Amino acid sequence: MQTRYDFTDQVVLITGAASGFGELAAQRFAQAGAKLALGDINADAVQAVADKIKATGGEALAMACDVSNNDQVEAFVATCVKTYGRLDIGINNAGISHPKKRLHQLDEANWDQTNGVNQKGVFLCMKYELTQMVEQGAGVILNVASAAGLMGSPFLSLYSSGKHGVIGLTKSAALEYGKMNIRVNAICPAFAKTPLVENSLKASGGKSRENLMAGNPMKRLGEVEEIVQAMLWACCKDNSFMNGAVVPLDGGLAAS
Ligand code: NAI
Repeated sequence: MQTRYDFTDQVVLITGAASGFGELAAQRFAQAGAKLALGDINADAVQAVADKIKATGGEALAMACDVSNNDQVEAFVATCVKTYGRLDIGINNAGISHPKKRLHQLDEANWDQTNGVNQKGVFLCMKYELTQMVEQGAGVILNVASAAGLMGSPFLSLYSSGKHGVIGLTKSAALEYGKMNIRVNAICPAFAKTPLVENSLKASGGKSRENLMAGNPMKRLGEVEEIVQAMLWACCKDNSFMNGAVVPLDGGLAAS
């Protein structure tokens, strides 16, 4: 796909860049001229994504980074700034799900793991990204929330609560940092064909895929490309007055 966006020489940091939205976003931002800092808990896989970008003439550094770990996030952002001299765009995308169960059947470990990555992880990334962006006097942050952050999600209560939390972080930071020329927004995808969704559908078995499609106003799942194109638009320089926005990318699911 040809990109219509120009991110020449902009420094873009992406978490969870080894798979799904993060992996394709890395490729698309690189094709649009960005210099990339790619982090993931899966060190080998994120290195492979960076190597592929470098092999086609792009610039990318890869680093093992567990977003739930303060020191690793601080080191990742510091490495990005040391390498490229700045950080223009932070895409806080890393996320996990949890076993589908009723709330009373989930336990403390499920809470700690899910919200450690999905909510605390976004807070930590924002903390260190914003520290750099305040110093620069400019920046863009895009958090990957979920339609589950806009609605209740039966059997995924901890995932849903963490994604509601990401939206709270996004809106609060937008109000705090707008006057500093830093835009903070969130996207809320639902059921796009990434490994996260495909694995969960496999685990659910039966008619899960058909049921999901039937329950969506557009009667299909989302393509990863559709989400990534919205990421490019959300972060591009021309989209300069969008701040504090929470954008559903869900075929209309959250409109119901
Ligand atoms: P994915 O499973 O394909 O990719 C997630 C990536 O995050 C993986 O590379 C994984 O290794 C990495 N990761 C997991 N834990 C990490 C940690 N502690 N630190 C750093 N990296 C970590 O999933 P997908 O679908 O691309 O998800 C990306 C984001 O989009 C997540 O935040 C997810 O909640 C969100 N999302 C996805 C939807 C979908 O339809 N696929 C729907 C709504 C939200």
